[in-house]
Amino acid sequence: MRMLDIIAKKRQGLKHTDQELAFVVKAASDPKAGVPDYQLTAWLMAVCCRGMDEAETAALTRAMALSGRRLDLKRLRAPKVDKHSTGGVGDGISLALAPLMAAAGLAVPMMSGRGLGHTGGTLDKLESMKGFRVRMGIDEITSQLARIGVCMFGQTQDLAPADRTLYSLRDASSTVESVPLVVASILSKKFAEDLDALVLDVKIGSGAIFKNPAEAQALSRALVKTARKLGLRSVAVLTSMDQPLGRYVGNALEVVQAVEVLRGDFTSADYAECLLTLGGWMMHLGGKAKDPEEGAARLKEVIRSGAALERFQKMIEAHGADPRAASDLDLLPKAAMTREIPAPRSGYISWLDARKVGEAAVILGAGRANKDSVLDYGAGFILDRKVGSKVKKGDCVARVHGSDAARMDEATAYFLTGLRVEGQKPKPIPVIRQVVK
Ligand code: URA
Repeated sequence: MRMLDIIAKKRQGLKHTDQELAFVVKAASDPKAGVPDYQLTAWLMAVCCRGMDEAETAALTRAMALSGRRLDLKRLRAPKVDKHSTGGVGDGISLALAPLMAAAGLAVPMMSGRGLGHTGGTLDKLESMKGFRVRMGIDEITSQLARIGVCMFGQTQDLAPADRTLYSLRDASSTVESVPLVVASILSKKFAEDLDALVLDVKIGSGAIFKNPAEAQALSRALVKTARKLGLRSVAVLTSMDQPLGRYVGNALEVVQAVEVLRGDFTSADYAECLLTLGGWMMHLGGKAKDPEEGAARLKEVIRSGAALERFQKMIEAHGADPRAASDLDLLPKAAMTREIPAPRSGYISWLDARKVGEAAVILGAGRANKDSVLDYGAGFILDRKVGSKVKKGDCVARVHGSDAARMDEATAYFLTGLRVEGQKPKPIPVIRQVVK
């Protein structure tokens, strides 16, 4: 079999056999296979343009899932349940959700990623806490899960290695937006976690991979169907990513958001709703609640009792960070400067574009402009007003946190291109759009 023939076949829109897909996955996971990156990238582009059917998607996912090692969590008694988001802006839900679910009796092995384009990455947010270690071996992950029920770690050489290669090539070749590639990428990682169930948070809107609802729905259906074929119980919750989630965008700033909600402060109502809905489904799929509503109510109790914040503290300590950061937010990195962004006119905020805010955060250094960029952990935005808020000209809409005045000017100007203030009160944007089972 030759990679060149496989590329040509997909370029012509033909269907791959399981053996051809296994060949591509071997090429992506084993450098000794000798297939150069440019051929893998050409194949990714062919898939992006020509697509794959359900059977091909399942075969690719299975081959990628089996490309590396798998955690063996059979000896854990707690149900093993995880959540995966397709990525957004201000979407630091995992930081609060993972310890919350562990405090509620689930085991959460959460393999996470870094920021991609304008979207933030859980690993970067965690590493904003000094000393937080995400590079862990399989034995360490397993023993931490047995001890405290939660572990948040990065992909290693041996966990889903094919995805590691393909994901970085996709990021650099404009081939991220492909339903079969996203399905195989997400589920191959989740399969390696040896889960009982999975909740998928599929974002829709300007800041999401797929902006249009029909594509996000197609992705949700494909994820749930393919997960079932792998023997994994799942639901997909479609959630809004038209404006950033919550009030904080940035790395350390999103840790602040997580701690606030774990302390029982639900001021960021959209963030709290998303957290409790996804968590409610995890409780239900994990057999801890008769339905997601009961699950969400139980989680509120866990937060009120203080157990969720305590588990967050234990988790960050286990990963090597200072546990006092959970009670003393001043221990988190801070930007050198803050400035206000004033409302350009009076009226109602009718649009606050998630993608533009995410891109403005990259300008500040909260995300990577290229692979080698060094992150500014304290940089980002605090959003004082969101869509629907009434403002007077000059009122503070958001605060910019940064360390470089020129970048702050540029980020502010860019942020403003995503902000609309109009005379009429806009319709509220629902956070939870649909559940696909
Ligand atoms: N998240 C992933 O893990 N993979 C994708 O392809 C997109 C989002």
